[in-house]
Amino acid sequence: MITIAIDGPSGSGKSTISKIIAKKMGFINVDTGALYRTIAYFFLENKINYKEKSEVLKNLNNISVSLKNENFSQTIFLNGVDVTQKIRTNEISMLSSEISVIPEVRQFLLKLQRDIAEKNNIVIDGRDIGTVVIPNADVKIFLTADPKVRAKRRYNQLISKGQSTTFDEILELINKRDYNDIHRKISPLKKANDAILVDNSNLNQQDTVYKLIEIIKKKGIKIDTK
Ligand code: DC
Repeated sequence: MITIAIDGPSGSGKSTISKIIAKKMGFINVDTGALYRTIAYFFLENKINYKEKSEVLKNLNNISVSLKNENFSQTIFLNGVDVTQKIRTNEISMLSSEISVIPEVRQFLLKLQRDIAEKNNIVIDGRDIGTVVIPNADVKIFLTADPKVRAKRRYNQLISKGQSTTFDEILELINKRDYNDIHRKISPLKKANDAILVDNSNLNQQDTVYKLIEIIKKKGIKIDTK
């Protein structure tokens, strides 16, 4: 099975770009941020004291998280209920970053991610795919951009979905999340030594896709870009 790993900070566009590339390649796209968001959503809805290790373990043992890919779009289920849209709020963004430091949460999701990678050709995006989850991925890309550019993108995305927010609020959240994700002890956000760095601060979506496709092709993986 072929794995294309795309890691990077929030707002680098990795989820959107991964989706487009997966579609072009006929691969499944796995947005791993959605997995952390789903656990955060569960903890929030059920008022779980996630600072208590025993509470975390007890609850993780009783939930199921699964992904369904249809028409190149990912739907995420928590105990059989579709939560795809519900996990896209600022509150869940921050909480998912907070709970992603919990070793038991990472362990729980690690198994799920590796199981998917074993059975499918995938374009998988996250923070630690190239470093921890699938260190032998066929292609590793680290996609990043200036924090202000990323904040502007996220702001536009949320506004177009009808959510009320401000640019400053988003920039602050992005900076906080970067800090959390880079400084956590386990599996921090980090470029793998053998990942290719792409800074797309000055590239639009189409150019970024083009650049990544060139990288993938150079690795000897065929893409039919008709
Ligand atoms: O990509 P995203 O914004 O949907 O991710 C939400 C949070 O989940 C992110 O702030 C950190 C965590 N995360 C992680 O720790 N490891 C991953 N592979 C993906 C996401």
